[in-house]
Amino acid sequence: MRVAVIGTGRMGKALAKTFSYNYKTVWIAGRNIENTKRVAEEIGQPSLKAATIEEAIAAADIIIPTLWFTDEKTFVVKYQHLLKNKIYFNISVPFNDTFEDLTLPYGVSAAETIQVLLPEVKFVSGFKNTYWVIFDHPIQLNGLKSDVLINSDDELVKKQVIHFLQPLPFRFIDGGGIAENRIIERMTLLARNISKREGFYPRVSYHIWGG
Ligand SMILES: NC(=O)c1ccc[n+]([C@@H]2O[C@H](COP(=O)([O-])OP(=O)(O)OC[C@H]3O[C@@H](n4cnc5c(N)ncnc54)[C@H](OP(=O)(O)O)[C@@H]3O)[C@@H](O)[C@H]2O)c1
Repeated sequence: MRVAVIGTGRMGKALAKTFSYNYKTVWIAGRNIENTKRVAEEIGQPSLKAATIEEAIAAADIIIPTLWFTDEKTFVVKYQHLLKNKIYFNISVPFNDTFEDLTLPYGVSAAETIQVLLPEVKFVSGFKNTYWVIFDHPIQLNGLKSDVLINSDDELVKKQVIHFLQPLPFRFIDGGGIAENRIIERMTLLARNISKREGFYPRVSYHIWGG
């Protein structure tokens, strides 16, 4: 499976970097091809290819838009026809402008809202609780890995994606169906609020302990 990361912001760069260290070919695409090429050059991995959004979607099996929720809604409407039969990987958390709350009420998630716009797509979500800086050091000195919850209503696709992600330096956990994002997206808000108070924002992540 090949991955295309859409967007060249904090998460776009972090994911493109991590994927390009661990897979043979990874695509990165943004609205401006010159800027995308610059970002790919900065990352400097031969496996990372800059492309237009159309080219990246066509070349990859898993598409990861790293856009804000409102922009992502526009994105899926625009590229819906190209996304058919692809695995769409949603990472958005619907933060408001001040990052102090979410724009969606309790009981509604960004993931569910995007999923209904893409009926012919294999829909997966993940990396919602992984702040961009964590990608540089996802494992603590004591060996504790940062957890990434992967969700989908399609059990087979979820298993395939979790298997595909294994080379990355995170612990991938089956987070359940897409509706669990009502909680998972709010976990990101909670992690932000706690780490702000405690003074270690944005170096914050979850590890679900047990067993
Ligand atoms: N930051 C985190 O730690 C984190 C963690 C988990 C999940 N997320 C989610 O990841 C998403 C991106 O977060 P971020 O921090 O990476 O944001 P960001 O740094 O602001 O990057 C967003 C990217 O979206 C693209 N973009 C901006 N305006 C756009 C528009 N009007 N239409 C289409 N594309 C537009 C831009 O890429 P181009 O110029 O290349 O098109 C921009 O770099 C959000 O939904 C957030 O909730 C973030």
